[in-house]
Amino acid sequence: MRKKFIAGNWKMYTTAAAAKALAEGVAKGVTGNAVTVAVCPPYPWLGLVADAVKGSGVAVGGQNCHHAAEGAYTGEVSPQMLLDAGCQYVIVGHSERRHGLGEPDRFLNLKAKAATAAGLKVIFCVGELLAEREAGLTEDVIWFQVAAGLNGLSADAVSKLVIAYEPVWAIGTGKVASPAQAQEVHAFIRKGFARQYGDAAAGALAILYGGSVKPDNAAEILRQPDVDGALVGGASLKVDSFLGIVRAAV
Ligand code: PGA
Repeated sequence: MRKKFIAGNWKMYTTAAAAKALAEGVAKGVTGNAVTVAVCPPYPWLGLVADAVKGSGVAVGGQNCHHAAEGAYTGEVSPQMLLDAGCQYVIVGHSERRHGLGEPDRFLNLKAKAATAAGLKVIFCVGELLAEREAGLTEDVIWFQVAAGLNGLSADAVSKLVIAYEPVWAIGTGKVASPAQAQEVHAFIRKGFARQYGDAAAGALAILYGGSVKPDNAAEILRQPDVDGALVGGASLKVDSFLGIVRAAV
């Protein structure tokens, strides 16, 4: 049985005060360890959020990182900096960076390698555009993103990864994929993993769904056999709605 995993991606939202209150509220509301819970605040609030959730079961993640250990990379943050700030996780390849900022697959591959080598658990995001789905290209796109993103990663590194399937057309649009659509792609990813890395690795892999997950649609999506959790954007910004999704995962 894979443990369910709910991660909140706060994107570029929250003030310092709001981040602290949100982190404290989530930490207080997550009791027991039936579900793995993580929050991914903006960089400047990582330290204060890590402090706010200390001693609770809630983990902290970065929303991105650079692949270099250090260097003249203005505006960037290294995997080790995230670890030092209290992170266990990092999101790599979110569609807002792939499509919004044009980050190419080879760059995401370097990030996945560097972050896992540093000791972070990577939440590696993949997802098709609406036009790609309508053209029948969903599986091609998803497998290309997985294969290119994880190319050259060791079996050990892959065992520490989480995949997030986030159809781009469902992110922040209120258009959630149907449970059947999510299940179909998740099963496809797991089958590909089995081919590439073996049955044990595929069986252990956590595959999260992301895209307009809310407390009222979470249970049905999370009930799908290959859906192991959710990467939540908008609904992670309110304590009640995020905890509602965590409860739906139990
Ligand atoms: P959403 O975002 O829940 O607001 O659709 C999900 C994500 O971008 O990870």
